[in-house]
Amino acid sequence: MSYATHMEIRPDVTGFFDAATNTISYVVQDPASTACAVVDPVMDIDYAAGRISHAHADDIIAFIQKNGLTLDWLIETHVHADHLSGAPYIQEKLGGKLGIGANIIIVQETFGKVFNEGTEFQRDGSQFDQLFEDGDTYRVGGMECRALHTPGHTPACMTHVMGDAAFVGDTLFMPDGGSARADFPGGDAGTLYDSIQKVLSLPDETRLFMCHDYGPNGRDIRWETTVADEKAHNIHVGNGTSREEFVAFRTARDAKLDMPKLIIPSLQINMRGGDLPPADDTGKRFLKVPINGL
Ligand SMILES: [Fe+2]
Repeated sequence: MSYATHMEIRPDVTGFFDAATNTISYVVQDPASTACAVVDPVMDIDYAAGRISHAHADDIIAFIQKNGLTLDWLIETHVHADHLSGAPYIQEKLGGKLGIGANIIIVQETFGKVFNEGTEFQRDGSQFDQLFEDGDTYRVGGMECRALHTPGHTPACMTHVMGDAAFVGDTLFMPDGGSARADFPGGDAGTLYDSIQKVLSLPDETRLFMCHDYGPNGRDIRWETTVADEKAHNIHVGNGTSREEFVAFRTARDAKLDMPKLIIPSLQINMRGGDLPPADDTGKRFLKVPINGL
C-alpha cells in the first residue's frame, strides 16, 4: 500500500538529545504557520533515587515559547521501554493533543498483567487524546501529517510522516546503527523487517529522524538520514538484505541483549500516557518491580 506524500512541504525540525537515555525528541514546525508538534519528549528520572524532574521537557517548552509557536500535537511513536515520557508535563503547560498508535491497548493489556495493575488502570487507550490507525491523517497547522503503522519493535509502533520528514521511532537506527530490538512482548523480527520496508518505500529523499542514536564506533551522535541512505547503507537491512537473513540475525542478536536500564519505570509510566501511577491512601506514588516478571 502506498500513501500520498507531500515532499514539497519541508518542516523545520529541531532535535533535543537526551544524553541519559540516548533519545532524541523533536519539535516539528509547520513552515506555513506557527503551529508545531512535539515527538517523543523525555521526562528525566534518577531511578536509584526514585526522583523525577523535567529539565529536558523544560528545554523543549522554552524553545516553543521563544519561537512563539503553538503546540498542536504531542506524538508518541510507541510505548518506550528506555525512557519516560514527558508529554503530560508539556501538555499541561502548552496544550496540544496527545496521540499514539491504536495498538496501545495490546501493550496496556500485556503490561497491565505484568505489573498486576488493578481495575483502575484502563486498558482502552483513554489516557491519550487520539489513537491512530494505519494511514490516519491529522494536521499541524496547515501541514497534513500521516501515521503509518510500523510494528515489530512493539505492536503499537507508528512512523509519523510530516511533509518530507518521517519520524521512525524504533524501527530503524542510523545506517551504521542498524535496527531496534524485536524481542519485547508483542515484538517480532519478521514484522519489523516488513515495517522497515514500508518506511523505505517512502520517496528516496524523505528525511528520516531517529528516536535513538548510540554513536556506534565512537562517532558523534547523529539523528537524521534519508530513505536512500538507509536503503544503500543500513548495516542490518540495507543493500537488499532478505527477510530470512534479517530475522536470523535479529533473533540471535536480541538473545544477547540486556533489558534496558529504565524498562521497569518506563513501561509503568508510558502505558499510562506518561502519567505516574495513582497515589496510595497516604498520597504517595510508587513504582513496582515485578520479580522475575519480565
Ligand atoms: Fe523503543
